[in-house]
Amino acid sequence: MTATTPVALDYVSKLAPYIPGKPIEDVARELHLDPATIVKLASNENPRGPSPKVLTAIAAAAADITRYPDGYGYHLKDALASRLEVSPAQLVLGNGSNDILELATMAYLKPGDAAVYSQHAFAVYPLATHARGATGIEVPAKDLAHDLSAMRAAITPATRIVFVANPNNPTGTWIAPADLEAFIDSVPRNVLVVLDEAYNEYLEPADRAQSVRWIAKFPHLAVSRSFSKAYGLAALRIGYGVMAVEVADMFNRVRQPFNVNALAQAAAVAALEDVSYVDESRALNRQGLLQLYAGLAALGVRYVPAHGNFVLAKGGDAARINTELLHKGVIVRPVASYGLPEWLRISVGLPAENERFLATLAQALGR
Ligand SMILES: Cc1ncc(COP(=O)(O)O)c(C=O)c1O
Repeated sequence: MTATTPVALDYVSKLAPYIPGKPIEDVARELHLDPATIVKLASNENPRGPSPKVLTAIAAAAADITRYPDGYGYHLKDALASRLEVSPAQLVLGNGSNDILELATMAYLKPGDAAVYSQHAFAVYPLATHARGATGIEVPAKDLAHDLSAMRAAITPATRIVFVANPNNPTGTWIAPADLEAFIDSVPRNVLVVLDEAYNEYLEPADRAQSVRWIAKFPHLAVSRSFSKAYGLAALRIGYGVMAVEVADMFNRVRQPFNVNALAQAAAVAALEDVSYVDESRALNRQGLLQLYAGLAALGVRYVPAHGNFVLAKGGDAARINTELLHKGVIVRPVASYGLPEWLRISVGLPAENERFLATLAQALGR
């Protein structure tokens, strides 16, 4: 008798798993390197380490971990609602903003429905879409960026969700607020526009869309934001969505009752209050981008002007360069799985980490 396992759903067995940035520990173990000498610029994390105020908040919240967290997230919703000038009922908290993207597909997609997203857009859009048995419509990018008019044209009666990343990962491209607003207005009101703003806090304030304000006139808009990037809380897994009360109600019906843990909630409240940490992170990121641009240009490497905390650079033989960088203890992100086999994505690190990457890249390129 052959051992068999239950047959999974056809569309689940066809899913291509998400490929994360390689953890430092794995690279150290596999390549026999000292973890202390490894530089990781592969997951668009904040390189500064956490805000001390966040650490204090986590220590205080740790005393209560025998209790379930507040499944509603009262304090964090209260803080977010006053910061964003929305009602707490418009907010959905997520186990990372990834959770918000998943909840959108759980509430709005079934087999036979379709979701539209751009080529080279964040990998979770196709993953979450296909996990519901729905069809993903990938719209060819224009100069690596979202082609909004082609995305509008790709919407059919079967379309229930359109994903837009602004800025987008892994390309770092950005859509000007006026273009974005016109696009959202052009989308039929029975199609949910999921506007993923995971890197919003890295944009200069003048470049940020007033997306949360738009919700009042666009009830088909859901904005998702993350605490993993500029707020520096990637390991805690926390993000949020802002949307019309009726849409938030649907997201909240499909989420786990306790999807955001207590340490993450306490940390996020403290992170929101620590405005200077985020401002300093943005300033450091701006400097780091200039450092990487200058270094890449000096090496004759083409790059895409960035709007997040990472740069997409054309390595040519990116797989080989990536292997050489790894062997020298520098972890970046190959993006072949995004349809960009010649490119590497480099997260902005501390100045010395950026320098180490540039020097190691120069060696890998034989310069
Ligand atoms: C565009 C984009 N959206 C969402 C996420 C999810 O981030 P998190 O779940 O950590 O909030 C990421 C993470 O890399 C991202 O790049």
